[in-house]
Amino acid sequence: MDTLATTPDPYASGIARVLIEQESLQERIAEMGAAIAADYGDKRPLFVGVLKGVLFFMADLLRAVHIPLEVDFMSISSYSAETREHGVVRITKDLDTTLAGRHVIFVEDMIDTGLTLSYLLRLLQTRQPASLHVAVLFDKPSRRIVDIKPRYLGFRLPDLFVVGYGLDQREQYRNLPFVGVLSPDALRQE
Ligand code: IMP
Ligand code: MG
Repeated sequence: MDTLATTPDPYASGIARVLIEQESLQERIAEMGAAIAADYGDKRPLFVGVLKGVLFFMADLLRAVHIPLEVDFMSISSYSAETREHGVVRITKDLDTTLAGRHVIFVEDMIDTGLTLSYLLRLLQTRQPASLHVAVLFDKPSRRIVDIKPRYLGFRLPDLFVVGYGLDQREQYRNLPFVGVLSPDALRQE
């Protein structure tokens, strides 16, 4: 990949620096996939992702898990700022798959406060899966409100707002193949 210094792509113009290169993402995800495959063997796990941030992570992770598996997605939107503080979200597209008796791996792009994830895990648990574990690409432990420890974790991040590889700022930057830190100017758009 060309560096930003030599290729000032307009679509990356708000990026101050690259935090995690594309190659490092792929290497780590390959390791996560191998660990999941070793743990699940012939259990035909069901990977559940929340759109849209998980898009590229899910695509790359699944191709690194070399066992039979299934995948499904849900979409959520936050309610008002007040309910968001309690992690309450509205499901705008539910799963197509019945979870009862299935070995479920919940896949998320990021755990920040942990509120969203803990709400969704509680919801999925009521559907009585045989097991329920979490695979997360990025973790910002310093901002945690709810204590959640993912079974599979890609990278621990400092308390920075990052974009790229699925993560957005107001729906922008998801298509960057790396993870970057926004410039102070771009951050002010928050
Ligand atoms: P929380 O754990 O409930 O605070 O929410 C986590 C969600 O917030 C993630 O799934 C992301 O959609 C979003 N998020 C948190 N930190 C970042 C970031 O640095 N960049 C982009 N989205 C973020
Ligand atoms: Mg988001």
